[in-house]
Amino acid sequence: MKIIAGNWKMNGDVKSLDNMINDLSGIDTESRVILCVPYTMLRAGNDVVMIGAQNVSKFESGAHTSEISAKMVRDTGAVVTLVGHSECRDALHDTNTDVAERAKMAILNDLIPIICIGETATERDMGLTIRVVENGVRESVPDNATDGGFIIAYEPRWAIGAGITPTTQQIGAVHKIIRETLNDMGFTDTPILYGASVTGANAHEIMSVPNVDGVLVGGASLKLDDFIPIIKNAE
Ligand code: PGA
Repeated sequence: MKIIAGNWKMNGDVKSLDNMINDLSGIDTESRVILCVPYTMLRAGNDVVMIGAQNVSKFESGAHTSEISAKMVRDTGAVVTLVGHSECRDALHDTNTDVAERAKMAILNDLIPIICIGETATERDMGLTIRVVENGVRESVPDNATDGGFIIAYEPRWAIGAGITPTTQQIGAVHKIIRETLNDMGFTDTPILYGASVTGANAHEIMSVPNVDGVLVGGASLKLDDFIPIIKNAE
């Protein structure tokens, strides 16, 4: 079973999510489909589609104007949240430690965090990819994590929204390191997703790479015609 997670970023509305859930609910798939949507659209999903947020606060409650706590997200019926997405790391200046604190709050409130890690173009060019990714896993996974209770998403930051992807060999090499790091930390049953410029055209090849347990999809998760081929290509 593969995991196909969509990240709607700051797109869509309640009606488009209703339509998407409705259409996806009719498809026959073995895969686990997740849609991470803006806060205003959060709700319970169904047997086919799990609904998730795109971030949660590292604080429990209090004077944090504009922030949304993990408890509030869970209260909507949503069951998943992204943490550490590169756009949030950029905008909020989150370090791995901040991301771990957000993931910790998610787990405490019965949300499954999808913990995103990945190297920038500069880090890649400096030959730091493996180090950044390994440190990302070791430092962003919180101390209350349990095996299978969280998901890692490897997203090379230079490939997000860029229409380019690493080669399958490069993806395989990074996912192998993530798997070995997770094993070393005692997590032998934790899914690892690949994200960045996934489309219906490359989804099958990417999901055939060893240690790729699914994909995190931005742009191509917004329209059913783009998203369905990715779900179909998981099988
Ligand atoms: P993309 O985005 O699929 O549009 O590259 C992926 C993401 O940001 O999660």
